[in-house]
Amino acid sequence: MYLIILDSETDFDGWRQAARALALHHIAPADVTWQVQGQTKDQLPPGLSEAPGLPPIETESTFTVPANFIELARITILHRDDGRFALLNRLLWRLKADHDLLEAITDPDVTQAAAMAGAVQRDVQRMRDLVRFREIGRDQKAHYAAWFEPEHHIIAFAAPFFVRRFADIPWSILSPDVCAHWDGHAVSFTPGISRRERPAPGHLEETWRRHFQPDRLPTPDALVKRRRNLHEASILEPLLVDAERWTGGRISPRPETTMGRKATSDDLEALREEAAHCRACHLYKDATQTVFGEGPKSANIMLVGEQPGDKEDLAGHPFVGPAGKMLDRALEEAGVDRKKVYVTNAVKHFKFVPRGKIRLHQKPVTPEIRACRQWYEREVSVIQPDLIVAMGATAAQSVFGKITPIGKNRGRLIDLPDGRKALVTVHPSYLLRLPDPEAKALEYRRFVEDLKIAAGLQKKAARAA
Ligand code: URA
Repeated sequence: MYLIILDSETDFDGWRQAARALALHHIAPADVTWQVQGQTKDQLPPGLSEAPGLPPIETESTFTVPANFIELARITILHRDDGRFALLNRLLWRLKADHDLLEAITDPDVTQAAAMAGAVQRDVQRMRDLVRFREIGRDQKAHYAAWFEPEHHIIAFAAPFFVRRFADIPWSILSPDVCAHWDGHAVSFTPGISRRERPAPGHLEETWRRHFQPDRLPTPDALVKRRRNLHEASILEPLLVDAERWTGGRISPRPETTMGRKATSDDLEALREEAAHCRACHLYKDATQTVFGEGPKSANIMLVGEQPGDKEDLAGHPFVGPAGKMLDRALEEAGVDRKKVYVTNAVKHFKFVPRGKIRLHQKPVTPEIRACRQWYEREVSVIQPDLIVAMGATAAQSVFGKITPIGKNRGRLIDLPDGRKALVTVHPSYLLRLPDPEAKALEYRRFVEDLKIAAGLQKKAARAA
């Protein structure tokens, strides 16, 4: 029996080195026990108190495994299940004999690893969604802190997202496993705070002070080392795409299209869930979340905007900020029932540049619109609207698949190649930006007139139903 002791719960390099050596020595996974440093000897299996060293490798022999196994293993190792090291070792051992093992989607080991990778990925997303920083005093300077209890070992892995998202403010994420700190220059990690000491609502500052008096913060030397760790973590982050591929594509295959039938809520939910992990362009890096379309599955009108704004990015819903209010008003005046239309955006992540505490909207460019078009197409395929209303140039570019001027095309029904109708109009934000009140009122009236075409169609469909 062999005992392998890893440096930490997330010691991927240690696991990889050991698993490779074990396989080269033909030591079967059943003869190996995996532990993490710090686990006491009384936790060792009976009869295993010493760690026998591996004999030297006699040959230069080596073997290769598919790159996607390494990717899968990097994510799976963050799962909290104690059996993950052995599971991955078993997969590696079996891959030596069967290079295509990962294609066997009903294999219990493959299924289990993929499910674990999916759970880790969902936990990372949950952390991105739920972490809310609160301002707390730290000497003279403000500091922000949040408490988060992850299900898996994801804090270091997820930290780069918060660094990018909150680069300008010093923050700490406290958790039972490990605490992450950002001082504006580097990330550092300190031991976790036990669940027993979990801060009561409104008492985060006390917990923070108890654990992180200035003299207990990491030394500059430690910061240098940890900065390197952060870099590693940011290299790992794109691998989440692969975990998605594993869990989405293999374990629970989802229909690519509904082929002409009306959507079920499952179709939409599956799509929404998949889009939540989209990495097709870089915009996901700074945005809080994917803002997917919303509305009833039976909608026969789809409204398409440009991209979520600041408010939508935080709320996770389309058109809930100032442009949304303007849209609601115009829809009501035109006689369109918003509750019965599906509202979405050409681009599903908020693009912005930080300016102090403000996030300034940036117009998406063609590669970003193209990268995101798959979601629009799949929404159309699921919802099957009769009419698609493109609000503004970005939406029109996505709907028609090419740059389409608004002025020349607005206010009339246009045939789309798939038999649906499209209507082009201005974006409500354009109206908000118009400085001249008279021009604003006039343009608003024109917008309402355009929407009345949609209202007519909605009424016709209601009568036919
Ligand atoms: N602008 C958009 O195009 N979409 C939104 O969801 C909000 C503002």
